[in-house]
Parts: sequence; C-alpha cells; structure tokens
Amino acid sequence: MQDGLVRSIWFRAISRGDAALVHELHSDPMTNVNNPFGASLDVRASEEMLEGWLQHWKDHAFGYELAFEGDRLAGICGARRDRWRDIPVINLYWRLLPEYWGKGLAGDLGRHALDIARTAPPLAEDLIVARMRPENVGSARVAEKLGLTRRSDLDGEMSGAHWILYAVARVP
Ligand SMILES: CC(C)(COP(=O)(O)OP(=O)(O)OC[C@H]1O[C@@H](n2cnc3c(N)ncnc32)[C@H](O)[C@@H]1OP(=O)(O)O)[C@@H](O)C(=O)NCCC(=O)NCCS
Repeated sequence: MQDGLVRSIWFRAISRGDAALVHELHSDPMTNVNNPFGASLDVRASEEMLEGWLQHWKDHAFGYELAFEGDRLAGICGARRDRWRDIPVINLYWRLLPEYWGKGLAGDLGRHALDIARTAPPLAEDLIVARMRPENVGSARVAEKLGLTRRSDLDGEMSGAHWILYAVARVP
C-alpha cells in the first residue's frame, strides 16, 4: 500500500458538469471486463447515467461521489437505493481508474461507500449489499474486508448475467 497516496484521496459528490469524468471512468474496457454491458463508449450514455445518479441525490440526499488524488480523478464510489430480487436494498459501488489499481485504494473507496450507506437518511432498506460478477475477485475481497458476508442465498441473474451477493445489516 502507498500510504501517501491513500492519505491524499478525497471525495466530493457528483454534480452537473461531471459527464466527462463519469465517461472517463466507464469508457475504459479494462475497468469493464466484469460488466456484462461492456464499456460505455457513448458519451451520451455516460451523461444519462450521470442524470440518473443526480436524480438519486435529489430524491434521497445521498448517492455517488467522485474520488480524487490531488486534482486527478481516481475513481467513484457510493451507495444507492435499489431493489434486488424484490428486496429493498442499499447497493454499494466502487470503481477505480486502472492506474490506481493494486495500491490498496479500493478498500478506502469501499469504506467510504459503506459510510455513505450507513449515514443515509432512515429508509425501509435495512440491508446493504455489494453485487458483483463471480470472477470479480478484487471486488469480492473489498466486500469481505468491509465486513460484508457472502450471501449465496441472495445470488441471482440480472441482464443475462449471474451475480453474487455480499451483505450486511444497515444498523450493525
Ligand atoms: C474492483 C476494484 C475497485 C479493485 O481495485 P484494486 O486496486 O485491484 O483493489 P486493491 O488493490 O485495493 O485490492 C483489494 C483486495 O483485493 C485483492 N485483489 C485484487 N485483485 C485481485 C485478484 N485479481 N485476485 C485476488 N485478489 C485480488 C487484493 O489483494 C486486496 O486484498 P488484500 O487487501 O487482502 O491484499 C478495481 O479492480 C476496479 O475498479 N474494477 C472495475 C470496477 C469494478 O469491477 N467495480 C466493482 C463493481 S461490483
């Protein structure tokens, strides 16, 4: 782990005008090897994604945040209300640009996402989940390090792909 780099990571909420940054994060094929939809190569699709995330912020007062190292974009993370197999959940998310992989930062983004989920306004959802493709070993390891438990009973299909679930209660 590069301590200096970890210490210099800071977060801010997504905002209107972040479409280029969102696109940078989601258009890299390397960061989408475990995404059944593949990389988002269309800027318009990234803009629509951002619109949806901003609406979530408006509706629920929490959501996704961008991570920076100095003034350089490093990743994105956060939490959103969702439904999984008819269960209301808060879904965690983390994603780093490849140049920041392997530096131990994924855990920091994961921890920040979990903090967001835990401090969100009270909701019906009391289950926090992280959903990933079975081959996404790095992401599964992040979930484990955050204290989430593997929940094979919650695994399921979405968008023609199989997803595995990790979960933890919102109120410990
Ligand atoms: C998932 C992601 C954030 C992990 O980033 P990373 O920089 O590789 O993660 P870290 O270096 O912090 O490693 C986290 C842990 O996973 C382990 N790990 C990472 N990749 C691994 C691999 N391929 N196999 C086994 N372990 C792995 C690391 O050893 C570390 O565990 P440790 O702390 O016990 O040593 C990054 O790969 C990414 O952004 N991927 C694209 C987006 C994505 O898939 N997001 C998750 C959507 S569900």
